[in-house]
Amino acid sequence: MTKPVVFILGAGAGIGGHVAKRFAREGYHACLARRSDRAGLDRLVDEIHQAGGLASGFMINAVEEDSIEKLVTDIESNMGPITVAVFNLGAQIGDRGLASTTLKQFEMGWRMATFGLFRLAQVLFPFMQQRGQGTLLVTSATAAMRGNAGQHAHAAAMGGRRMLCQSLSAQFASKGIHVSHIVIDGAVDAPDTLGKMLGEERFQALRSQKGLEHDGLVLPSAVAESYYYLAHQHRSAWTFELDLRSHADLAWWNSPGNPDLK
Ligand SMILES: NC(=O)c1ccc[n+]([C@@H]2O[C@H](COP(=O)([O-])OP(=O)(O)OC[C@H]3O[C@@H](n4cnc5c(N)ncnc54)[C@H](OP(=O)(O)O)[C@@H]3O)[C@@H](O)[C@H]2O)c1
Repeated sequence: MTKPVVFILGAGAGIGGHVAKRFAREGYHACLARRSDRAGLDRLVDEIHQAGGLASGFMINAVEEDSIEKLVTDIESNMGPITVAVFNLGAQIGDRGLASTTLKQFEMGWRMATFGLFRLAQVLFPFMQQRGQGTLLVTSATAAMRGNAGQHAHAAAMGGRRMLCQSLSAQFASKGIHVSHIVIDGAVDAPDTLGKMLGEERFQALRSQKGLEHDGLVLPSAVAESYYYLAHQHRSAWTFELDLRSHADLAWWNSPGNPDLK
């Protein structure tokens, strides 16, 4: 029997990979797509197989023309209906002032974080609409809620993405498609993204200082629990927006405040 598919666009060892494992544990066929690390992709797929689940891996560069469109159509034709899609591409380039943010970086951020989501919805939603159901979970970041010095490209792309999620939800919720925007308000224990951006030494220092037993870095396995829950809500009480942060972090809307009150 064909299993329902969870399709993860942007599946590294962090949130993407953990969401794949969580859904595969419940009987989904996890279809994982990522851009450059074939060995990392194979490792994730193998781990799911070892645990008795079903998984398939795909290498794509989502900014290339027709890449998302072709992959979604192939999965729908050959693997099964995409019941849940997870859009997990980020656009963080680290803090860069206005003058040091190039036109190319700004445009690339938008292509990955905003236009990529638009393209995914355009190819996937007709399939979901025909079935009268489907879920699109969109991983997001603090930058979707608040601009900041050095975040010109990232915040513009993520803010646009949040508005796109609202627009998609407005058109498609009544047609059975649940769109949910998940604000990850803090650093994630994610070796393939934050780890690569910081470099091994700084990442391990951050992990020992904030992560591990301190639980001050967002754990991707814990995020995956929330994704599974979101995808299985009753349609009379869907969450559009969820924000997740570590107990050790202030929410994006707070300032440090009076230290005497801590
Ligand atoms: N990491 C954080 O601290 C943090 C904080 C707040 C929000 N977020 C959000 O979390 C999401 C990412 O989750 P994560 O950080 O845990 O990462 P992850 O799931 O471990 O990995 C994401 C994967 O996306 C893939 N990717 C990047 N560009 C791609 C492209 N053009 N085409 C196809 N695949 C591509 C990369 O694959 P390759 O490695 O193969 O190139 C990467 O491994 C993003 O939406 C980001 O905004 C992350």
